[in-house]
Amino acid sequence: MKTFKKKKALSRLAKKEKTAGKKIGFIPTMGALHTGHIALVNRARAENDLVVCSIFVNPIQFNKAEDLRAYPRTLVNDLTRLEQAGCDVVFCPETEEIYPEPETRAYDFGHLDKVMEGRFRKGHFNGVATVVHKLFDIVQPHRAYFGEKDFQQLQVVRALVKKEGLDVDIVACGTVREPDGLALSSRNVRLTKFQREEAPRIYQALKMAKEMYPDHVMQAIREKVIACVNKSPELKVEYFEIVWADNLLPVNTPEPGRKAVACIAANAGPVRLIDNLALNS
Ligand code: PAJ
Repeated sequence: MKTFKKKKALSRLAKKEKTAGKKIGFIPTMGALHTGHIALVNRARAENDLVVCSIFVNPIQFNKAEDLRAYPRTLVNDLTRLEQAGCDVVFCPETEEIYPEPETRAYDFGHLDKVMEGRFRKGHFNGVATVVHKLFDIVQPHRAYFGEKDFQQLQVVRALVKKEGLDVDIVACGTVREPDGLALSSRNVRLTKFQREEAPRIYQALKMAKEMYPDHVMQAIREKVIACVNKSPELKVEYFEIVWADNLLPVNTPEPGRKAVACIAANAGPVRLIDNLALNS
């Protein structure tokens, strides 16, 4: 496995491999890797000749300095896991390599980046889109792998690719969970023992929403879900929305055959957890 810190050297290698007819699969991450990330690497390994993973804690997608500071960093462990998973190339640049100058790009994704996460984390998706666009320019992958765990991010990245006419296939991968249902997340290590015990309520509440959909009115589902999570003194729902999978607009009346997704964010003390579940897969 080769490690690069400089974009020019990585671009040169990627270009050479492409010219030789190799398919490049790319997994952008912020490190603190867990089995969810590795599932993306495994999928990329199975579908491409060259697997490239990036590890970069992107400062401009954090809207709270404290969250950026507290974000776990476990580079040595990450490199071991990637090597074991058969990753070929890791890109782990310093901040100045990605942002030599203050960033000014502003994307317009309509309402896609304004709802849910976008409403509570101002500028977050502009930061995600900026770094993903820069990373795609450097790596020039044929395919890029994203988790459904961050469903809104996945839809924003798809919109970015469409809007900017980027030549990359976005591959969506299912959410990997702990045996008790908690979605794997780099932030889970920050949970206290009691918060960790209570956190699976989030998935339980989503499953309840799935059982109720489409036979109950949306407001009744919302109330049940929020009450179920907030019943724990450790958890506080920030938002719960039932949206159409294709455009993230709220579902008012279910339509047969049209995919709806339940999306939730909840705080466990200072740790923000998000999850989602397809209601009619
Ligand atoms: P990060 O949170 O490190 O996640 C990297 C990728 O792993 C994302 O596509 C995310 O959806 C996926 N992932 C995380 N947890 C998962 C799980 N439990 N199951 C399946 N996939 C999971 O998302 C980011 O980094 C950043 O925003 C990034 C796209 C790298 C831009 O900075």
